[in-house]
Amino acid sequence: MTRYEQIKVELLSSPKTWLVTGVAGFIGSNLLEHLLKLNQKVVGLDNFATGHQHNLDEVKGLVTAEQWQGFNFIEGDIRNYQDCETALANNGEDVDYVLHQAALGSVPRSIADPVTTNAANITGFLNMLQAAKEANVKSFTYAASSSTYGDHPALPKVEENIGNPLSPYAVTKYVNELYAGVYAKTYGFKTIGLRYFNVFGQRQDPNGAYAAVIPKWTADMIKGEDVFINGDGETSRDFCFIENTVQMNILAATATDQAKNQVYNVAVGGRTSLNQLFHAIKAGLNDNGISYPQEPTYRDFRAGDVRHSQADVSKAVNKLGYAPEYKILQGISKAMPWYKKLLG
Ligand SMILES: NC(=O)c1ccc[n+]([C@@H]2O[C@H](COP(=O)([O-])OP(=O)(O)OC[C@H]3O[C@@H](n4cnc5c(N)ncnc54)[C@H](O)[C@@H]3O)[C@@H](O)[C@H]2O)c1
Repeated sequence: MTRYEQIKVELLSSPKTWLVTGVAGFIGSNLLEHLLKLNQKVVGLDNFATGHQHNLDEVKGLVTAEQWQGFNFIEGDIRNYQDCETALANNGEDVDYVLHQAALGSVPRSIADPVTTNAANITGFLNMLQAAKEANVKSFTYAASSSTYGDHPALPKVEENIGNPLSPYAVTKYVNELYAGVYAKTYGFKTIGLRYFNVFGQRQDPNGAYAAVIPKWTADMIKGEDVFINGDGETSRDFCFIENTVQMNILAATATDQAKNQVYNVAVGGRTSLNQLFHAIKAGLNDNGISYPQEPTYRDFRAGDVRHSQADVSKAVNKLGYAPEYKILQGISKAMPWYKKLLG
């Protein structure tokens, strides 16, 4: 039995209360779905900046009525300290574990509007961290980012070796890690940061100027529109299917004290170029009866993007018992039917 399987058995027999911030977003709503299916109680906090009510409605349709009763949604803003306190107060029922996902994602968004990104990602983060410390929660796990590796050239990326940030977004995520370290030293409040590497899967938003590459290209192909590749297509990423990310959050939240006050890569350890990704999505859609005959259009490299990204996940494997269940192609085959249903 893997540690993940063990923890799931324990959670089913002894349900806990979780706070998921950013619950109406892509990763947050997937965490919500998994936790409710494990009969956990979940408080959700979101201001719908980039998340959607339809994500919550979809989860409602995927769980039982009884499981849905375990969900308490609070519409609120992490930039407002009181909203963080209200979520943690949970009408008098203690929160055990915090999974802090709320933030403004996207490197280009942060370049276009660094001030707004800073407010959600740094002030909002600090508010949640402080409120969680005051509430004496059992653990605080937060969404960090692979963008923290910045211009460090080594591959694969190991947690200790980071470079200089390449975008305002990367600065915000690095500052989260700095605050987390200072909270451990100053207050003994130990957290876990999860450096996500290009997470993808169902409910990742295909719309808007800041859509991530997999949902964007999938939507473009389904609609028969041009697919644009920034640069020569040899830029590479370690794409991580959402189920692996959910696993890491649950492993981190329930980790021993020894595994805390650390950051962990969350990925698979693979490397896929954008050219390979184009063909993988095309094949995934083809398996679902959607053909895309066009070739991609190449354009300039995008500012702030790192050239290559690939994780060494051995720290998570060794310290948290991480056992990723999905490689990129398996994740793409799981995700494509969802996009077909949404857009096809
Ligand atoms: N998806 C990825 O590949 C990836 C990679 C690295 C890090 N991350 C991080 O993971 C987390 C979740 O990302 P996601 O992909 O699910 O994005 P998302 O945009 O789908 O979800 C973020 C959620 O946070 C909410 N939110 C934003 N600002 C808020 C505020 N001020 N108050 C309350 N809620 C607020 C949004 O409404 C949204 O529901 C983020 O912290 C992001 O930076 C994601």
